[in-house]
Amino acid sequence: MPLPSIRPRLVRRRSKVHGFGVFAGEPITKNTRIIDYAGELVRNFESEEREERYLAQGCIWMFRVNRTWSRDAAVGGNIARFINHSCSPNCWFEVAATTIWIRASRSIRAGEELTYDYSTVGERTIPCRCRPGCRNKL
Ligand SMILES: C[S@@+](CC[C@H](N)C(=O)[O-])C[C@H]1O[C@@H](n2cnc3c(N)ncnc32)[C@H](O)[C@@H]1O
Ligand SMILES: [Zn+2]
Repeated sequence: MPLPSIRPRLVRRRSKVHGFGVFAGEPITKNTRIIDYAGELVRNFESEEREERYLAQGCIWMFRVNRTWSRDAAVGGNIARFINHSCSPNCWFEVAATTIWIRASRSIRAGEELTYDYSTVGERTIPCRCRPGCRNKL
């Protein structure tokens, strides 16, 4: 029988980057699979219409899985949906079939905010606030 997987403890609280963010509740070792980005699996043609609606409210909830599927964290999402973007992140994402894993790209201290690079494509209208003076857009 496979061993149950132990995931690091995470805390959701206000972030300096934007709204709520997700913080490490304990030290996390490099490469750990921290959490999966949960959400309803929807076909891309349907996700585009939903994404436009969410973006009009200033929020990105849709995560492109592959050429066919996206995950909509606004429906059935978990705490991973509150992870903010950074241009110099401490996490990365790995797509395994239709599961999106958020993984540690280095060792992370307890209390650090988790971030990954959203790698957004398209219009990119949201000014990035990952650090003072960042000129990128999401
Ligand atoms: C998946 S949500 C992340 C959780 C969000 N902070 C909240 O409280 O709902 C993505 C949204 O957070 C905001 N966001 C995330 N990272 C950001 C960043 N680096 N700069 C500015 N806004 C950011 C954007 O509005 C984006 O659409
Ligand atoms: Zn940035």
